[in-house]
Amino acid sequence: MDIFRFLCYYSYIINEITRNDMEVFIMENIEKVCRFLDEAQTYYLATVEGDQPRVRPFGTALIYDGRLYIQTGRVKPVSKQIAANPKVEICAFKDGKWLRVSGELVDDNNREVKVAMLEKIPALKSMYSVDDDNTQVLYFKNATAVFSSMTEAPETITF
Ligand SMILES: Cc1cc2nc3c(=O)[nH]c(=O)nc-3n(C[C@H](O)[C@H](O)[C@H](O)COP(=O)(O)O)c2cc1C
Repeated sequence: MDIFRFLCYYSYIINEITRNDMEVFIMENIEKVCRFLDEAQTYYLATVEGDQPRVRPFGTALIYDGRLYIQTGRVKPVSKQIAANPKVEICAFKDGKWLRVSGELVDDNNREVKVAMLEKIPALKSMYSVDDDNTQVLYFKNATAVFSSMTEAPETITF
């Protein structure tokens, strides 16, 4: 192998390792966020309607295909507000720490995600089914998650 080929191969290997490390790092971050939401059990989802903030309790959170999903019903005002303006923020509190996740929510009609959501949270099955045209799953895009507490410096992660 000449030196040029060796360098190309070497840089390819280094790139692959870096890319894989990045993917693992991002996955660990998303898992940390989802775990906090699951353990807090309830988080509060803020949307905007015109110039009016709207906030309500939510509990659904799922990681699927490396994305953080939440679930709602298309008939709800919250769904219509997100359709008009996908920018949202959620806030959860647990054990003296709070988590805020801001970003955009993307409506995803993928049936498999809905199946996974209903499997993870069976209580949803009394109100929703995968093919009811109401069940909606949305994932976070361009998200910034900040873990805060009264005693420690904030920790910011993006995904
Ligand atoms: C603890 C708790 C968790 C909830 N989780 C969800 C949820 O994940 N998705 C959802 O659509 N509604 C959830 N709800 C119900 C919504 O808060 C409720 O339907 C609310 O009115 C929706 O907001 P909207 O009226 O602005 O559409 C939850 C309610 C409670 C009390």
